Amino acid sequence: MRTRSNPIYCAVDTVDLSEAAKLIRTIAEGSRPAVGGIKLGLEFFLAHGAPGVRYAFPAPVRATGVGFFLDLKLHDIPNTVAGGIRAVVELAPTFITIHASGGREMMKAAVEEAGAQAAKYNVPRPKLLGVTVLTSLDRADLEATGVSANPSDQVLRLAVLAREAGLDGAICSPHEIAALRKHCGPDFVLMVPGIRPVGSAANDQKRAMTPRQAVDLGATNLVVGRPIYQAADPRAAAEAIAREAGVNDV
Ligand code: C5P
Repeated sequence: MRTRSNPIYCAVDTVDLSEAAKLIRTIAEGSRPAVGGIKLGLEFFLAHGAPGVRYAFPAPVRATGVGFFLDLKLHDIPNTVAGGIRAVVELAPTFITIHASGGREMMKAAVEEAGAQAAKYNVPRPKLLGVTVLTSLDRADLEATGVSANPSDQVLRLAVLAREAGLDGAICSPHEIAALRKHCGPDFVLMVPGIRPVGSAANDQKRAMTPRQAVDLGATNLVVGRPIYQAADPRAAAEAIAREAGVNDV
């Protein structure tokens, strides 16, 4: 049977350094990590910076092959976003997020800088993912910012722009997977939050999907937070979610 690589990225949504380090060790250490990757976000990075990343997610744990998603959602003029990328490539993130609404030139500058810095530090080039329309914005919110398109059309427009600018993928909600997969092609990374395993609490995710549904629709990676880190046994929870997503060797 062909083995599917583990698509699950655990959102480590805490600013408590030792809690983050413990969770990461629990789910990512060992010869068979329970997750495909770890997501650290803006809050963690603003609080602890690169030293915090190195502490909570040290090289021996990285060496298990677990990915690192640095979810910074950068958005500024091209030169400044390139500077942001320059500052973090040494940490060898697998994925970094930038806002697609920052425009073509901003995205192109980020891609170019990611390539240059990866060569300098001799690390794989981080894959850049575009944030399209935040799911906290509805049609009226977009309208208030001068965007008259409906949110799903705007998501598609920004994802296509991101791909044209050289980005490797996009963040999208489960309900956008099918359209983005169709318009952005088979190799475009679709990183999808809003995932809930069968029978778990939805928390504040209003339109969640199961891991299996999301993967079947064409998701590349799934971001899962609370169902893993709030579980009594986070490692067992992550393994069960990976199995639900079709991974058969966790
Ligand atoms: O705990 P939960 O599984 O809901 O965590 C999902 C992660 O994905 C969190 O880090 C959250 O910020 C992020 N996210 C999301 N929905 C979006 C965008 C990001 O849940 N639309």
